[in-house]
Amino acid sequence: MRYSPIGKELFTNNRKRFVGILQKEAIAVFNSNDSMPSNADGTLGYKQNSDLFYLTGIEQEESLLVICPSFPDKKYREVLLLREPNELLEKWEGHKLTKQEAKDISGIETVVWLSEFHKLFHHMMVMGGVECVYLNTNEHYRSDVIVESRDARFIDWCKAKYPLHKYERAAPLVSVLRRSKEKREIELLQKACDITELGFRRVLKFTKAGVAEYEIEAEYIHEFIRNGSKGFAYTPIIASGANSIILHYIQNNQVCKDGDLLLLDVAAEYANYNADLTRTIPVNGRFTKRQKEVYNSVLKIHREAAKILRPSVVYFDYHKEVEKLMQSELLKLKLIDKTDIKNQKPDNPAFKKYFYHGTGHMLGLDVHDVGNMYEKVQLGSVWTIEPGIYIKAEGFGIRLENNFVVEKSKNVDLMKDIPIEAEEIEELMNVK
Ligand code: GLY
Ligand code: MN
Ligand code: MN
Repeated sequence: MRYSPIGKELFTNNRKRFVGILQKEAIAVFNSNDSMPSNADGTLGYKQNSDLFYLTGIEQEESLLVICPSFPDKKYREVLLLREPNELLEKWEGHKLTKQEAKDISGIETVVWLSEFHKLFHHMMVMGGVECVYLNTNEHYRSDVIVESRDARFIDWCKAKYPLHKYERAAPLVSVLRRSKEKREIELLQKACDITELGFRRVLKFTKAGVAEYEIEAEYIHEFIRNGSKGFAYTPIIASGANSIILHYIQNNQVCKDGDLLLLDVAAEYANYNADLTRTIPVNGRFTKRQKEVYNSVLKIHREAAKILRPSVVYFDYHKEVEKLMQSELLKLKLIDKTDIKNQKPDNPAFKKYFYHGTGHMLGLDVHDVGNMYEKVQLGSVWTIEPGIYIKAEGFGIRLENNFVVEKSKNVDLMKDIPIEAEEIEELMNVK
């Protein structure tokens, strides 16, 4: 792996907390993600299932975790199953984890080869007093997932083979655990933010009129990878000029023009933890008066929002407060007026013409991390704060996004060292 060892304590503790919220006489199974095939004999880049990683630290494909806390033989209360290395596999794909290596990473004492799974699992299901089976599936907000995951196939197989057991959902339990981060996880997120900062500072020096958006993308990835990241935390948005009003602009194929703004929603991953940064900079190194005016409004909202997103606030109430701040800044910028507000429809308020997304999301092993947005903000949770103003008629959009840990006395900004003041950005872009 490219990162320093995380330490098995994190994963051992995560499993312990998971076991603590299971029903009695339960078994839980977590599958890795599939390796997705290309249209020929290649495979697309591999990404481990976040829940399996959270509970084991194992990044290898075709891995499986079985937890059965009340199994009579203590040795089998936690079992990690791995793909068995062989000479041919190693010739093609290189080193695969040994049992000892997997044990050192995960803290799981019993590591067996995958070929033993069916016999072992059957034994546990029928001899271990198991009543209830926790299975995992993607329960994130999006509902348009059409790919059948390894977990989904396992659910079908398991329910067909053991129809009279009781089934439960593992995802809500893991989601509750994952929403507040452990100290070690914050360190890893900080590292992802620090690598992101290096990329952004590099880009500040590189950007000028005439460079293509994809050249900027190349500067980022170079800096990220040489600093131990596997790469982008998400598909980078490098949006110059009018592209900056498109929230998910990812083509990155236009040339940056003199006088335009450049919106950069680009961040690194580190050890599977993700940063999520947005900055908006002037292509030629100087904001116009109008650009700076709008920029400072977004910055003001960003800073005020960071004071409101505190424990015991519910995200949607916080968002309402941010909308009020937004409305007042849009009035000052003369983008809307009192009549617009008077005539607005409740489901289509005037500010929506210029601010048409949420103010943030939880962050962690997934960029839009698991956790229930309808619950109160939890201590130890990590959030992005990312207001934006997008003005189609003026051909630019501005978003500013940092990552915050919600702590008892205050929110800790993991990106506090990343330049955000308009003047500091100008200064750094004009160093000869
Ligand atoms: N970069 C994705 C987001 O800001 O949500
Ligand atoms: Mn974000
Ligand atoms: Mn972002």
